Amino acid sequence: MKHVVILISGRGSNMEAIVRAQIPGARIVAVISNRPDAGGLEFAARHSIASQVVDHRAFPSREAFDAALAELIDGFSPDLVVLAGFMRVLTDAFVSRYAGRLLNIHPSLLPSFPGLHTHRRALEAGVRVHGTTVHFVTPTLDCGPIVIQAAVPVLPGDDEASLAARVLVQEHRIYPQAVRWFVEGRLRLTEAGGVRVEGESDGPIGWTVPPVEA
Ligand code: GRF
Repeated sequence: MKHVVILISGRGSNMEAIVRAQIPGARIVAVISNRPDAGGLEFAARHSIASQVVDHRAFPSREAFDAALAELIDGFSPDLVVLAGFMRVLTDAFVSRYAGRLLNIHPSLLPSFPGLHTHRRALEAGVRVHGTTVHFVTPTLDCGPIVIQAAVPVLPGDDEASLAARVLVQEHRIYPQAVRWFVEGRLRLTEAGGVRVEGESDGPIGWTVPPVEA
């Protein structure tokens, strides 16, 4: 069994999608939040998953917080650490410690729109296609090797909420898929800085969702 630790800060719907996927060979050993009021903690408790809070406000520095977080994570002997709406910028030391076994989901088609407020910025930029990306985490924010992406159309009349909701449906599809590939040992980092999924065709991996009725 591969041990998976999931880090959240809020609602935890991606964590929930991963748990509900019941990925063979994966055991969700802990859900850890940096916020005591994260909604996702309740789901974890209801599903008898160990949940813990490391409140970042209790630490004098980013380094001290990350060190405490890493100590807690390591107690669960993780094979994979999954950032699922974890809203803290991590130190290089933390990222290096989990190099190659730290995944994140970002609500845009990277490298477009790294950082915050991605849906608002996509609307402001007038893009016609938007989406979401699962990637390995490297020290540069929202910049690591891409595992899988899914695209959605931007429809006339969209606002931030409607676009976010359309993207979220895809997040809930691709994150469990990425975790499944990792657990199956099929993700390979390429020399060119990308990711190859063993056993998949060389074609693009992901989904482009056709326009739907508004
Ligand atoms: C998601 O949109 C994720 O891409 C972003 O934060 C949001 C978290 O949602 N990083 P949830 O907590 O998984 O519901």
